[in-house]
Amino acid sequence: MPRRADRLDLSFKDEKVYLLGLDPNGFKRARRGNPDGISIAKSGTERKPNMEQQTLVIIKPDGLKKSLTGNILTRLSETKLEIVAAKIIRVSRDLAVEHYKHMEDKPFFEELIKYIQGELHERRKVMAMVYWGDDAINRVRKLAGSTNPEEADPTTIRGSYGRITTKGLYENVIHTSSNEPEAERETKLWFEPDEVIVDPYPTKFVTLTNITKRVWA
Ligand code: CDP
Ligand code: MG
Repeated sequence: MPRRADRLDLSFKDEKVYLLGLDPNGFKRARRGNPDGISIAKSGTERKPNMEQQTLVIIKPDGLKKSLTGNILTRLSETKLEIVAAKIIRVSRDLAVEHYKHMEDKPFFEELIKYIQGELHERRKVMAMVYWGDDAINRVRKLAGSTNPEEADPTTIRGSYGRITTKGLYENVIHTSSNEPEAERETKLWFEPDEVIVDPYPTKFVTLTNITKRVWA
């Protein structure tokens, strides 16, 4: 059980805030709270409760090949959301197929799998991140723009940098989750609980035996 801090009233930029729910390990992790380790629940009516969300963002291989990482991160920072997990990852076929399992019956499915695995761009890696904060899913989707880069508003990330290939595939630079169940499924698919610095979803401890893994020599 997380140790609860005494409820404190603080004055913070003219708003009253409460500090709640400190983690058993001090400030190392936060349960559904501020990534710095403190859950800040503002009082007042202007802010809807429980709108904190997490969303998976992937900079796809075309984004990496076009050296867009900096631009994309800068655009995403406009949202004031926080990055609570990030890694560069080589996408296995299993991960790609699981991620895009809702597209399995599409004629472009195999091309899509090649795309996310980097086979179309000689960049066999993607950058995967979890963004956290108020209304994160919609705010990132809005900034990303429509799936079809030709239809996306030109001020959006996909509208600025996406293209349609000669085979008709939308190379649209980033992936972002489109709703809460998808964000949960995708966060759990791409990240282990200990790779995310908040605990957005329940976790449990399991004891594994006879596990062989690579460690630093
Ligand atoms: O990525 P998003 O959630 O906006 O769209 P999706 O419908 O989940 O599709 C996943 C990905 O498949 C897109 O991001 C595109 O790369 C690709 N796609 C495509 O190439 N052509 C389509 N007509 C639809 C999707
Ligand atoms: Mg989607």
